[in-house]
Amino acid sequence: MHAKVLLVIITIVCFCTATGAKEEIRRERPGTLFNPSKIPLLEDPGRDVWQKPDEILKALDIKRGQVVADIGAGPGYLTAKLSECVGESGIVYAVDIQQEMIDYARKNLLDRGLKNVVLVLGDMDDPKLSPEKMDVIVLLSTYHEIAKTVEYVKKLRAALKPHGKLAILEFTDESPIGPPLKFRLPEDIVIHEVRQAGFTLLQKHTFLLPYQYFLVFTPSTS
Ligand SMILES: C[S@@+](CC[C@H](N)C(=O)[O-])C[C@H]1O[C@@H](n2cnc3c(N)ncnc32)[C@H](O)[C@@H]1O
Repeated sequence: MHAKVLLVIITIVCFCTATGAKEEIRRERPGTLFNPSKIPLLEDPGRDVWQKPDEILKALDIKRGQVVADIGAGPGYLTAKLSECVGESGIVYAVDIQQEMIDYARKNLLDRGLKNVVLVLGDMDDPKLSPEKMDVIVLLSTYHEIAKTVEYVKKLRAALKPHGKLAILEFTDESPIGPPLKFRLPEDIVIHEVRQAGFTLLQKHTFLLPYQYFLVFTPSTS
């Protein structure tokens, strides 16, 4: 084959591979709800190695006495860490929409003697939190499961104190673990939606966690 023709073919193949790689992921929203039968995955003691919960709390500067919410708390993995961090003078609202998760979290927290947690059975479209009460709201691997994200985040904004923080952590497309690729959300989509809901991006902890991006927002003033 003529060298020039071969070069053109190689160039086309390379171009298709490069551009096709990104377009192959067809996003489906919302993702399916995390099945409670897989709770052991969330409670795996080895999770701390990559989830780095202490570093998450440190990055959010969570203090004793604060009022915080864990949205999509599941079995209470992060709730328990938040509870210890805010101490007896603080409160953690652990919100989930699956009764099985709430029941599991209740037992989990009682077993650990943690008494500063209020469990909330929310709705898909409503976290059922009181206005202007929260210092920090965290969504850990939950955002991609929410149906109407912009409307939902507006409700979170109403629940936050004016200078409160909203943290969203989701698995990257590159992560070897996490939900199916089609349910993962690129961080630019999340940033765009959360801005639409009235927030300003404060921090992007891109390299803190190996498998997840970590975004921190605060309510916009205008
Ligand atoms: C993948 S699990 C993560 C659980 C927990 N954050 C963790 O990292 O261990 C997502 C959780 O979000 C909950 N969830 C989904 N949509 C929700 C919503 N609109 N409001 C509250 N919880 C929701 C699901 O029921 C599920 O327990």
